[in-house]
Amino acid sequence: MQPIRYGMIGGGQGAFIGGVHRTAAAIAGNWQLVAGALSATPEKARASGREIGLSEDRTYGSWAEMIEREAALPEDVRIEAVAIVTPNHMHAPPAIAAMEAGFDVIIDKPLAESLAHAQAIADAAARTGRRIGVTQTYTGYSLVKLARKMVAGGELGALRRVMVKYTQDWLSRSEDLVDNKQAEWRVDPARSGEAGAFGDIGTHAANLVEFITGERIAELCAELTMLEGRQIDDDGAAMFRLSGGGKGTLTASQVCVGDANDLAISIYCDEAGLHWRQVEPNKLVVGRRDKPVETWHDGGNRAYLPSDILALHRTPGGHPEGYLEAFANIYRAFGDHLRGAPAPEGEPGFATMDDALHSMRFISACLESSRQGAVWVNL
Ligand SMILES: NC(=O)c1ccc[n+]([C@@H]2O[C@H](COP(=O)([O-])OP(=O)(O)OC[C@H]3O[C@@H](n4cnc5c(N)ncnc54)[C@H](O)[C@@H]3O)[C@@H](O)[C@H]2O)c1
Repeated sequence: MQPIRYGMIGGGQGAFIGGVHRTAAAIAGNWQLVAGALSATPEKARASGREIGLSEDRTYGSWAEMIEREAALPEDVRIEAVAIVTPNHMHAPPAIAAMEAGFDVIIDKPLAESLAHAQAIADAAARTGRRIGVTQTYTGYSLVKLARKMVAGGELGALRRVMVKYTQDWLSRSEDLVDNKQAEWRVDPARSGEAGAFGDIGTHAANLVEFITGERIAELCAELTMLEGRQIDDDGAAMFRLSGGGKGTLTASQVCVGDANDLAISIYCDEAGLHWRQVEPNKLVVGRRDKPVETWHDGGNRAYLPSDILALHRTPGGHPEGYLEAFANIYRAFGDHLRGAPAPEGEPGFATMDDALHSMRFISACLESSRQGAVWVNL
């Protein structure tokens, strides 16, 4: 299969996730970066393109220019998709314009800075028939997929309780906001959206719960708080109920001192509990009352893994794969989907529009609940 020719929007000099997307796409092997509008400032966009080796004539000063000029190129030359890695408020405008011009979209979470703009993206996808994949990174880890299979297989029994936390400390001091490109827009409601940490990482935690359990968060009550002087949440917790009746708690915080990036999830069912933690992503722990604790390790030669899980690895067991490979698994799956490959058994391998819209409803429900004093709210 020919690689998908794509153009990147955002991800210029000093940016965080754009470089991760490019690396993931390269590891995936079924994508080829051919164009870019990498920054909000035309000069910086061009300098950024030069720095990563994009050709001069396909390094654009703005995303609008890229979409217009690429659409005018011959069909077998122009981009087929865009990767959108801009701050949240700059997701909907380029996503909608790209789809209107006939391009598919791979986009980072959250889908937009507001539910209304996320819905506008969904409407544009329905109108144009273009396809969207959302990069909910943590669902790309092989052992997270194995956890999902174990829950779906029923061997663990019915789901009782989920505990998930996503804690960081990079915004725990007031000076963390000074001269920090990533912090600057994340604490600004106009660019981040009405939610801070809950939009930024709470969505990852909520999506992970839904991915592993195969259920939706149906109702919740939440308390979102922030350090003095901030406008949007940097910390909070929610209780939730799942569509299948299971219960759970979710904590998301960017002010938990000592935690760099601690995403951890426990799923308790009638017969067993499952535990996965992003800082040790190559192991999945299964606890039962009447048996010793099992630790599953991953890797391309762990023959006890199901074949679809084995197929996600690039290295033999004992050679850790991590964040970039998980991201690459999402690119690989979405690229295959764009090329018409049949959907893999069980799940598409990337977050869909439905998943992303539900995450936006999760954010809105948390905000509404918290504003009303932590009352229960339906999604
Ligand atoms: N999946 C994940 O694990 C993950 C991790 C980090 C960030 N993200 C998401 O990725 C997005 C970007 O986050 P980040 O941390 O990389 O931000 P960042 O501030 O580091 O980078 C944003 C980039 O977008 C560019 N940009 C802004 N406006 C633009 C415009 N109009 N046209 C072209 N480029 C423009 C900026 O110049 C910058 O290069 C956010 O939506 C964030 O939520 C996802």
